[in-house]
Amino acid sequence: MKDKIHVGIIGFGTVGTGTAKILIENRELIKKRTGIDFILKRIADLDIKRDRGIKVPEGVLTTDAGAVINDPDIDVVVELMGGIHPAKDFMLNAVKNKKHVVTANKALIATEGNEIFAEAEKNGVEVGFEASVAGGIPIIKVLREGLVANNIVAVYGIINGTSNYILTKMTDEKVEFSDALKEAQRLGYAEADPTFDIEGIDTAHKLTILSSLSYGIPLSYNEVYKEGITKITAQDIEFASELGYKIKLLAITKLSNGEIEMRVHPTMIPNEYLISKVDGVFNAVYVEGDAVGSTLYYGRGAGDMPTGSAVVADIVDIARCDNGQKAKGIGYVSADYKIRKMEDIESMYYFRFSAMDQPGVLSKISGILGNYNISIASVIQKGRRLGGSVPLVVLAHTAKERDVLSAVKEIDNLPVVSDKTLFIRVEGKEE
Ligand code: HSE
Repeated sequence: MKDKIHVGIIGFGTVGTGTAKILIENRELIKKRTGIDFILKRIADLDIKRDRGIKVPEGVLTTDAGAVINDPDIDVVVELMGGIHPAKDFMLNAVKNKKHVVTANKALIATEGNEIFAEAEKNGVEVGFEASVAGGIPIIKVLREGLVANNIVAVYGIINGTSNYILTKMTDEKVEFSDALKEAQRLGYAEADPTFDIEGIDTAHKLTILSSLSYGIPLSYNEVYKEGITKITAQDIEFASELGYKIKLLAITKLSNGEIEMRVHPTMIPNEYLISKVDGVFNAVYVEGDAVGSTLYYGRGAGDMPTGSAVVADIVDIARCDNGQKAKGIGYVSADYKIRKMEDIESMYYFRFSAMDQPGVLSKISGILGNYNISIASVIQKGRRLGGSVPLVVLAHTAKERDVLSAVKEIDNLPVVSDKTLFIRVEGKEE
């Protein structure tokens, strides 16, 4: 094992700064713990003038990514620039130069990871991506190492801090989505273009990675069902609360009848479940293994220092991995797997119908639900608006998604229904 490891970073933004800070400030601590001296040799960024609040040794900063990728001394290249291009080329070039790579780039790993891992294996180097899912929570290590002896039954994650902040704000302050989003943007949580956060795309990138690690399947981002939080209203949150639930944007992967489910959508979770108490920008991942049972991991899913903590852990891991047992990208890939189609899933459901407030409407709606084998658990109707429409809320027992889609289509065509029906999948035990 080498006792000195030279590190080069590409991308001196938020996470790059956190990573550099940890490598510089905790250098002695990490050396004491590992017996290895981690030397930050280069940081490349187009902007090397801006003050990031840390003192970087002379000669480390460069505007040329090639000075990192092609430096013969550098053992580990850390890609922290984000986006697909040119990050992918930088990573592949580093790998071809026989350098290990570490990244926090979930979009890149989820969509291009299969190619990057294959290239890394060909070149005998490692790819670390702990920081790509749930920031500072070491969830990759949990799945790969801590729970290696388990068949994974299910994984449920709140893994996008921005959407969790928005839903928490809507819950606590009864504000609408657009106002909560504005506040998230003001505080710098949401990206300038928040689509990835609020449409479930960022969550789906991370779920792709968790699914592959849990079930040994190739990274299959395109197979993930994605639904964001933009249609959730403050009223839905209030109805959910009356029924004893919180609404969270949940990433779910689990085995159902031998098929793998991968889905991201707003989900109602019973108030008494620990994960429903994960608020604000915090992340949490619940993992159930056949041997260990239920486990839950909680922490900060973004930010310079939490994400930097995961990046540096990967660098250390790679340096320590001298026993010839490479991590091999995503782990094993099983030959035989099937991803479940969304129409085939089963769940409990919350429906908010926009129905005319007149006699016989409920029976028309419940009749259609009944025709599709959707059984009602409870009903709420609040307010009277003669001649107008009111929200009619129905909580249904476990039903098939395929039946739900057909029933909603038929209900939305009724003349007494004035607007599109909103439905939310519900987790928890059947009452
Ligand atoms: N936009 C992400 C979030 C950042 O809100 O969680 C961390 O991946």
